[in-house]
Amino acid sequence: LPAEPTNKEKMDKPVETLFDKTASNLVGKPINRVEGSLKVSGQAHYSAEIQLDNKVYGVLVGSTIAKGKVEKIDSDSIAHIPGIIKVVTDPKRFLRNSQQGTKTEAPTQGVSEVFYHGEPIAVVVAETFEAATEGANALKVTYKDETDQAALDFTKELPNAHEVNEKKGSDKNAKHGDPEQGLADSAVTIDRMYHTPSQSNSPMEPHVTLAHWEDDKLVLYTSNQMIASCKQQVMDALDLKKDQVELISYYVGGGFGSKLGIAPESIAAAIASKEVGRPVLITMTRPQVMEATVRRSNTRQRIAIGCNEEGIINTFIHDTTTSNLPGEAFFEPTALSTHFLYRGENRRVSYQMVDMNHVLSGSMRAPGEAVGMIAVECAMDELATKLEMDPIELRRRNEPEEDPSEEMPFSTRQLVACMEKGAEAFGWDEHNPKPASRLEGDWWIGTGMSGTSRGNMLQPSEARAILQVDDSKELGVKAIIETDMTDIGTGSYTVFTQVAADLLGLPIDHIEMKLGDSDLPPASGSGGSFGAASAGSGVYLACEQLRKMLAKKVGLHADTIRIDNGQIKKSGEHQPSKAEAAIGASREKVADFVDKNLVEKGVVDKSEVDKVSGLVDKAVDLADKVSAKTGMPLPELKPANEQYDFDDNQSYALADIIAKFDEQEISAKGQIKPGKNGKNLRQASFGANFAEVAVHKVTGEIRVKRMTGVYAAGRILNHKLATSQCYGGMVFGIGSALMEEVIHDKHDGRLCNHDLAEYHVPVNADVPQLDVILLEEDDPYTNPMHIKGIGETSISGSAAAIANAIYNAVGVRVYDFPITLDKIL
Ligand code: MOS
Repeated sequence: LPAEPTNKEKMDKPVETLFDKTASNLVGKPINRVEGSLKVSGQAHYSAEIQLDNKVYGVLVGSTIAKGKVEKIDSDSIAHIPGIIKVVTDPKRFLRNSQQGTKTEAPTQGVSEVFYHGEPIAVVVAETFEAATEGANALKVTYKDETDQAALDFTKELPNAHEVNEKKGSDKNAKHGDPEQGLADSAVTIDRMYHTPSQSNSPMEPHVTLAHWEDDKLVLYTSNQMIASCKQQVMDALDLKKDQVELISYYVGGGFGSKLGIAPESIAAAIASKEVGRPVLITMTRPQVMEATVRRSNTRQRIAIGCNEEGIINTFIHDTTTSNLPGEAFFEPTALSTHFLYRGENRRVSYQMVDMNHVLSGSMRAPGEAVGMIAVECAMDELATKLEMDPIELRRRNEPEEDPSEEMPFSTRQLVACMEKGAEAFGWDEHNPKPASRLEGDWWIGTGMSGTSRGNMLQPSEARAILQVDDSKELGVKAIIETDMTDIGTGSYTVFTQVAADLLGLPIDHIEMKLGDSDLPPASGSGGSFGAASAGSGVYLACEQLRKMLAKKVGLHADTIRIDNGQIKKSGEHQPSKAEAAIGASREKVADFVDKNLVEKGVVDKSEVDKVSGLVDKAVDLADKVSAKTGMPLPELKPANEQYDFDDNQSYALADIIAKFDEQEISAKGQIKPGKNGKNLRQASFGANFAEVAVHKVTGEIRVKRMTGVYAAGRILNHKLATSQCYGGMVFGIGSALMEEVIHDKHDGRLCNHDLAEYHVPVNADVPQLDVILLEEDDPYTNPMHIKGIGETSISGSAAAIANAIYNAVGVRVYDFPITLDKIL
């Protein structure tokens, strides 16, 4: 008898990947960005740079009150300014400011009602940007000002905190065992309240839309992370049909979550363009990006941990309060990883919401874990100190065998391996746990570490792969890959080119990657670190399908082909499955037979065939058993006739195959649908962060001296780009530890530091040597590429390593982020 299947085998099926069998081994290679030279030479045209004849400029006007009603917008007040064309207002629509995946419950926001300071209430359209700006600044607006009733002080509003809408958020409240009793009974406990401030996504490229109408079709060149869902949002906002809207985002200068949904300038530009009958370009200013798109919510997080004297945790509590506009469903899901990161039979995760008259809070890079893991990992460090135990040892002792909340196994989990690798690379054995024990000149030196984890996600995604005769290419052929996926600086163009080139056996420069247009097959978009896995799987599956079609054309089974430098060869023998052996034909041929004789003739529906195709094996297994029990012989079927006259031992040029069948191109579609995988296994990326800081003994100035990050996120598609993503995450960690903080005035709701001079992010001088190590990993449960999200893994908790290093340097624990010098003096 076969061994009892393990939990893992029972639950999810590993998926095979072709990457191990291809000739080129292009996947993983640290190649440069394929669009890099276009970008540095100014030939990659971002939305604001698209040139359309007759274009005019729109500038948004923001509310100067935090709550109340707009009584009058006086267009005549700016009519005298040369070049002014029109003041466009719309009582219902263009204030839309949304987040993908969360539906608002708020009443329709409109110019008649204002919910936060800076909320767009009108757009001034003019011949030049300067005239529109002058008009927007001079426009007279009268309000019924109700700012005195606005919720502008988080602490004051705390007593009004209410439950979140779990159904519409990305995490839910959870309770196992008896957490409060567990805490009371524990020998050693930590119970702390952490505060993290509101932060601004502020991508380098501001939110921008160039709108124009081709008859009744609206075309928006816009800076966007998720084309397919944003197209739907535009359709909903303007009551347009599918074929009436096209969104184009060829190049995007970052988003960090603020471009997951449409921002106010999109709909404003669309309406304005309709009204003035010309293309309208609206580029938000930096202050507008910060005031009127989204922010990361501030958080108040209670972490309480109870353990025995050996440090074995029995209780883990993570209670979070965040803020958002009244009626908005999104909340910062701080505890996403808390559910499964460490041991503890008594657990609680809870969320509360405070309604505030501040700009919409939404997803910002690693929504949830980025700030949630600051609290978790600082608390773990403090617990280790209390136990007089090395923080790595404490985490090692609390490795759960499986997800302790859902009681499901991990697909892969390399937290300990990451910590050990990091400890070695960083030189953790020199860490002295006694705080304030190392003074070098005027600087206290300290080291700290944190663990990290971020859940892995997969979203539906489609792509098309086209193989086309092209005499200008060395191999006489090129592949075009089409999907509406975006590249927000993350490297989509490059990694998908690698995937396609690898699977199709073509050089990099024989692949043409077409992204960022809603007329292409809909993809996941860029968000949640799921872009490479989701949209990449669409590309992978389209290319795999193309391989099958090519194999069929030369009479080979797709399992036995090898495509190298544009040539197909036979490689190995196809191992028939039981079913295939019994019917005497390959799956492809059976499928082909069904297609030609049944589907095409309308005898059965294609979807019916898809449904039953997996049953063939089961039927044959059953037949085998019946035959063995009864002695009845299995019927023998004749192999299907060979359809093609190619010779198995020959190699064939892709260009010739296409030409031979008298076609100019062949194309295939790929589609990934998130299935059961991930529902039965906890899939997450893991990592460890290490930091060394220096704190000035007189001024309290904090400098990060070096950081090491070790991450395990499945296979890596491109080591250079993945490493860059991790650098970015670690820099974000420096920002959240030491400087980033949106400050709203408590009296009038104004965003006080609405530009990058006052809202501090790390600059080059703040960023020291960063070392990134990507652990080798293969996760066959995730997707056909075996990859997992990496971008947001490195930001999660990296600030905690810095905070813990600061404690080690000077012996002060700060619970209120960012850790500015005044808080440690
Ligand atoms: Mo990310 S915050 O999902 O763009």
